[in-house]
Amino acid sequence: MRKLIFATNNKHKLGEVREILDGTVQIVSLEEAGLSGEIPETADTLQGNALQKAQWVWERTHQDCFADDTGLEVDALGGAPGVYSARYAGEHCTFDDNVNKLLKALDGETNRKAQFRTVICLIEDGEPRYFEGKVEGQILTERYGNEGFGYDPIFMPDRFAVSFAEMPLEVKNMISHRGMAVKRLTEYLNK
Ligand code: IMP
Repeated sequence: MRKLIFATNNKHKLGEVREILDGTVQIVSLEEAGLSGEIPETADTLQGNALQKAQWVWERTHQDCFADDTGLEVDALGGAPGVYSARYAGEHCTFDDNVNKLLKALDGETNRKAQFRTVICLIEDGEPRYFEGKVEGQILTERYGNEGFGYDPIFMPDRFAVSFAEMPLEVKNMISHRGMAVKRLTEYLNK
């Protein structure tokens, strides 16, 4: 089976992507690849960050690898926090801090429209290639559910009456930004 190193330190992302690619591609974690340390993500676009993270692995291993970068783009905030979603509430903030800050920023706001967007950068034989996925929805006024991670408890995708954090992983993966981007990656790999 084809092997790809996934450039992430986020165990939730690793679990989600492994579940989608199960049986198609063997996902190698950074730990399994013998890599450790903070991966820099200092670009000002999702594409730039995805490339930076994948390149960090490529430079150290020269093995095929990929990285994803995700942003939550909120209409009423002009697309913020977007590429800065991970550090929205400050440099060493938690998922909870970010959710609190976003709920506060939207306090009293009736336009709750938002989208999650993921860009995956695959590096194959040193060449980068990009795959994108997005999902539209609404920011809820409080947290619902305990599954998932990040902004999941306050994001309700369109055509659903529950938050991402109230869905089983298989359902989130079928409709999510990362699920879509990984599906496009798989289609390319299976060609
Ligand atoms: P990054 O791709 O790790 O830089 O993610 C940016 C931020 O978006 C992090 O704070 C994540 O928690 C959040 N995030 C990424 N993917 C998801 C998701 O699937 N659900 C909820 N939050 C997410």
